[in-house]
Amino acid sequence: MQISRRNAIIFGAVAGAVSLPARGEVTHGAAASDGPGNSSPRKIERLAQWRFHLGHAASVEKDFGFGINQRTYAKAGVTADASAPVFNDSGWEPVMVPHDWAVSLPFAKPRMATTKETEDAAAAHGFKAIGRDFPENSVGWYRTPIKVSAADRDRLLWLEFDGVFRDCIVFVNGYIVGRNESGYAPFSVSIGDFLDYDGGPNVIAVRVDASLGEGWFYEGAGIYRHVDLVRADRVHVPQWGCVVRATPDAQGAAAAITLELRNDGKEQVEAVVRQRIVGPDGKVAVSLADAAVTLPAGKTVETSASTRISAPQLWSVETPHLYRLISDVTVAGQIVDRFETSFGIRTIRFDGARGFLLNGKPVKLLGTCNHQDHAGVGTGIPDALHAWRIAQLQEMGSNAWRSAHNPPATAMLDLCDARGMMMIVEARRNSSDPAAMDELSRILRRDRNHPSIIAWSLGNEEPQQGTARGARVTQVMQDLVRDLDPTRSTTFAFDNSWDLGAAKVVDVVGYNYRTDQIPAFKDKYPAVPVYGSETGSTVSTRGAYANDAAKHIVRAYDTEHPWWASTAEEWWTIAAARDDIAGGFIWTGFDYRGEPTPYPAWPSISSYFGVLDTCGFPKDNYYYYRAWWRPDQPLVHLLPHWNWPGREGEAIEVWVHGNCAEVELLLNGRSLGRKTMPRNRHLAWSVPYTPGRIEARGYDKGRRTARDIRETTGVPARIELTSDRRMPDASGSDAVVIRAEVQDSKGRAVPDASNLVRFVVEGDAKVIGVGNGDPTSLEADQASERHAFAGLAQAIVRVGKGAGSIRIRAVADGLSGGTVILLPHR
Ligand code: GAL
Repeated sequence: MQISRRNAIIFGAVAGAVSLPARGEVTHGAAASDGPGNSSPRKIERLAQWRFHLGHAASVEKDFGFGINQRTYAKAGVTADASAPVFNDSGWEPVMVPHDWAVSLPFAKPRMATTKETEDAAAAHGFKAIGRDFPENSVGWYRTPIKVSAADRDRLLWLEFDGVFRDCIVFVNGYIVGRNESGYAPFSVSIGDFLDYDGGPNVIAVRVDASLGEGWFYEGAGIYRHVDLVRADRVHVPQWGCVVRATPDAQGAAAAITLELRNDGKEQVEAVVRQRIVGPDGKVAVSLADAAVTLPAGKTVETSASTRISAPQLWSVETPHLYRLISDVTVAGQIVDRFETSFGIRTIRFDGARGFLLNGKPVKLLGTCNHQDHAGVGTGIPDALHAWRIAQLQEMGSNAWRSAHNPPATAMLDLCDARGMMMIVEARRNSSDPAAMDELSRILRRDRNHPSIIAWSLGNEEPQQGTARGARVTQVMQDLVRDLDPTRSTTFAFDNSWDLGAAKVVDVVGYNYRTDQIPAFKDKYPAVPVYGSETGSTVSTRGAYANDAAKHIVRAYDTEHPWWASTAEEWWTIAAARDDIAGGFIWTGFDYRGEPTPYPAWPSISSYFGVLDTCGFPKDNYYYYRAWWRPDQPLVHLLPHWNWPGREGEAIEVWVHGNCAEVELLLNGRSLGRKTMPRNRHLAWSVPYTPGRIEARGYDKGRRTARDIRETTGVPARIELTSDRRMPDASGSDAVVIRAEVQDSKGRAVPDASNLVRFVVEGDAKVIGVGNGDPTSLEADQASERHAFAGLAQAIVRVGKGAGSIRIRAVADGLSGGTVILLPHR
């Protein structure tokens, strides 16, 4: 095993109170933990419990005195009532971060909607009563006390925010200590100077102003990603201060490591860095030789090392193996810091002819685009729900996710790493202005160790995409990418100008829709790697089979799409047929709030694009993708349902999605014929309606391999309640996804049931949001009841720390209820 090391560059004598943004690397929540015996003084405390109250964007009085008589900025530490440590917040609502207050607001039409533009903007953001029209709902205040001891006086303390929407000011004990405008970039704030080390109180307050949006979709409001309080020695690894680049080769893998060390003490120190790499099996794979580093006071020193890992276990979609670099920093024989960096070993490459290659093998990108948004909770998605969402898409066969149109949460990236979901991280702004570059730099530093990330997207359908200015701006951004992460390609999602402007700069050209134009592009530019950055997108209402413009209902056959888009079948048949198209990202995996296309008007409040609805309940197109993205798993899926009272004798359009070689359709046991399934397409029959049972049988090599049945059901009689997991963690932050299905007395799902379902929880747990996937539903998200839509409703339930089992019941008038028992484990 060869190991080499060197110490390099000394830079930056920054010792100010505010470190916005800091240099960095991934903290992964528990960066310093290494089981019992960890003597690192670095302590990471997740700040999840806050108190919340709305402020006011227009009234100083209702904004707790923020801005009164310029008091806020006139004298240090005298800012607003709500930022003072002694302020009485006992009447404020206790909330848990991740938290989105917009989701709890009522739906509302814009007050000053005099133009089509303002109306459209309100629709685009999901018609929540937030924004400049609603100043009383657009500022939120958060407060949390922190415990500080006398021993902390000698340490450095800082806060790491993974994302706050939007424009926030962070206060400590009444002092303004940091400000961050972007709703999507992480930031950190050094707080030590402002603390009371003699007993306190010490209070963090955050004022968040969501009056302005950044996107054209629902964006939520508040502290919607994690916040950590970090305590570290004055000699420490700064945030995001480690990079590991591990590349497999014929003999194993080479790992190049850089580690930043900062000395915020007053004296120069001689430090020793001791590093080891722990393999996926939890055993030490490599121990590096100790390195002595001289750390002058007030300086950051970058050290680098290289080593080899033998018989590396590669990261891939199927085997998402992760390694950890543990860096111990020792001064005078004492460990002063321990910093962990998770990484994977794999190669990635986009190729003009072969598409995308993972570990040297072509892997089609079977992707979806998604916003961070879910029924019931909005953008405040608990980690467990991120995991559940990934799992739903993986079940469909998806292997890639495009985080539209902003960088994702760190929690999401950690899950993608651990579960083998590839990720395209997108910058929110296609700009080279200092603020945008600073945001991009924070994103790159935060995210560059994640093996799941396969490309950086620098823009989406920007007006300047095809211009010389667009090229200039994108070039500046790309130069920063090359500097901070030369290992990944850049890309851009274009809706025109695929060979102009920014398209001439980035490595990989993304096609938003217009998949049918890609073959001509490839003929002209065979060397340029191409993929569908947005594909499809069929619009549909889950469980609906006839369009109804008055009710904003869109049929769920794969036929409806906006003019710029296509059906699933249209784009996938093109992409599937060509190795030189790297794949595509469906717009979208999940329905999301806002952009209620094709009905961008009240009362439609969420999009119809998803292959899953806002709850993650699959629509019929889900099974189209599931069939062709997992061709080795036989599947037939039949649509529509078979409840058509009053339509006896009328022709019903029956479709089968599936991947079996042949499909036979039977009505009440009588065969309606066998058909050969055309590859990457579907089958259709026209069937005169007779109540009863319609069945699709799939055959491969003459053997029956799959089947699906729809039966005419009776009236709603019972609720079938299920949970995604029975044994969640009693950690206080875990959440389960509860599904309520309305069934008839024979246990058959009633496809048009709309009963009001009440969720009752006994034990230490709480319903934190409900949904039903109806894009026109104006029912409250934060409630304990919801009408079923097309037979289904959902509750997200957060599990507490308490002992004992949890009983969740679903109750509905006239139906026998359903029950789920959870056995949380500690
Ligand atoms: C694209 C855009 C997406 C979404 C989509 C709707 O133009 O990038 O964010 O708006 O259209 O079809």
